[in-house]
Parts: sequence; structure tokens; C-alpha cells
Amino acid sequence: MPNKKNGFLQIPRKQLFEFTDQVWFPALFRDLITDGLNFASHLFRYYTPILPRLEALTDQTATIIDLCSGGGGPWSQLIPLSEKKLRVILTDKYPNMAHFEHLRTQFPESIEYRSESIDARQIPPDLEGMVTIFTSFHHFKPEEASQILANMVNQRRVIGIFEITERSLFQICAAPFLIVFGILATTPFIKPPKLSRFLWTYLIPVIPITNVWDGIVSSLRSYTVDELQAMVAPFPEYRWEIGKIESPPFPITYLIGQPNES
Ligand SMILES: C[S@@+](CC[C@H](N)C(=O)[O-])C[C@H]1O[C@@H](n2cnc3c(N)ncnc32)[C@H](O)[C@@H]1O
Repeated sequence: MPNKKNGFLQIPRKQLFEFTDQVWFPALFRDLITDGLNFASHLFRYYTPILPRLEALTDQTATIIDLCSGGGGPWSQLIPLSEKKLRVILTDKYPNMAHFEHLRTQFPESIEYRSESIDARQIPPDLEGMVTIFTSFHHFKPEEASQILANMVNQRRVIGIFEITERSLFQICAAPFLIVFGILATTPFIKPPKLSRFLWTYLIPVIPITNVWDGIVSSLRSYTVDELQAMVAPFPEYRWEIGKIESPPFPITYLIGQPNES
């Protein structure tokens, strides 16, 4: 029987697989999905509550290396709201080039991107700056997640990890309805408009079906606050802040790490 914590039933973590992680998954579908995630993030502004914490981590000159950026994630909502001038470099193992370029054109002073594949498990040391990961840390197995943290600590990077996904029965039950309704209702408004988006959403519903699977699996793979705390225990040379921020309908789990001397 799962434990109950903070009013929600907790269930054991399952690694499973997400379509968007698979090499064989067509880039066309992956990009349509990450375009949609970016649009949802912009429309529902669910990462806005993390902005004060993010701003506290950056100074005016800091560069943010965003890993697993997908279609750009929350940056189109955060950049206009920030009182600081954020400079963000978008990266991904499977870069969504069209959307990276779209965001760069929209925010030429804040957004850059890397067009080559950048694996979060091996950040090139020459890519200097603090690191953020949005809605993606759950993709990594515990040993990979620990390795990512160890690499960042070795490179003395400031770290900000933010997850809207949560391993709660409530999210696993609610997410499929929200995802299907969200996709069907918002697809006509996602820019740039593409015939393929309509075809694979309404006519042959590959995008809603794979999105629902990935959404449920994302919840089942998400790390709890206690698990994240155990993961950072081997790194006392860092100050860690781990917790949840309210952002209805689901809280955001965050992990922030900074070298002790900074
Ligand atoms: C759920 S999407 C999140 C996208 C974005 N951060 C957001 O908030 O909308 C996960 C992203 O992680 C990327 N990804 C998966 N494995 C990766 C890896 N090993 N290194 C870098 N990116 C990876 C996928 O290509 C995908 O774009």
C-alpha cells in the first residue's frame, strides 16, 4: 500500500520509458510534442512562481545553460517577467531547432542555443554558466541523476532543477484528462501553425496518445523531495535547498544547489 505524504498517496518510482527519449521516435513527433509543452508552459505560466528563486541565483552577468530544453520550456514566460536580464543558452540531446530559432528571434538579447546534441549527462566543460533543468530530471535513472549532480558539483556550477511532474496518485489520475483536453483545445493556437500538427493531433491522434503515455510515465518517474535529499547527501561542499512551491494544480518540486563558498 503506498504511503501518504502531504495529503497525496506516494507510489514507488518506475523507470519505464518515454517516447520522446527514444532515438527511433521521429523528430517530427518529438518536436510537435515539445512545441506543445512550450506552449502550455507559456499559456498556464506554471513556472512563474519559481522566478524569485531563479533570479536569486543569477547575477547580471550569469549565463544560464538550460539542459533538456525541448521547445524552450518556460523561458518565454520567465524572460519578460524577470527584473534581471536573463541570458539563456538552450540545449537538448535532440534539439528542436525550429523552436529554438523562434525563441531566439523573439528574445534576441536573452536567448541563444546550441544546435549540436548536448547530453545532460555530459555537459561540455567549455559551456560555462549555471545550469537549469525543467520538467526533465525524472528522465534519468537514479544512478544517472546522481552522476549529473556529481558532474555539476565537480564543475562548481550553480544548479536549479524544477519539476512540475510529481509521483502522486492525484497527478497520475488527473494528468491524462488535462493533457488530452489541453492538446485538443490549444493545438490551433500553437505557433508556427503546421499542417502536420493538425494531422497528427486530430486525424491520427499520435500526439495526444504519446503525450498521455509520456505524462503518466513522467509522474511515475518523478523524484520525491526525500529522494532528492538522499541524492545530494554525498555533496556537503554545496548548500542544497530542496522543496515544493505551490503552483496549482500541481506543486513544483525544486532542487537548488550552490557551492558553499559562493
Ligand atoms: C519533457 S521534455 C522537457 C522540455 C522542456 N525543458 C520543458 O520544460 O518544456 C524533456 C526533454 O528532455 C530531452 N532529453 C531527454 N534525454 C536527454 C538527455 N540525456 N540529455 C539532454 N536532453 C535530454 C528530450 O529531448 C526532451 O526535449
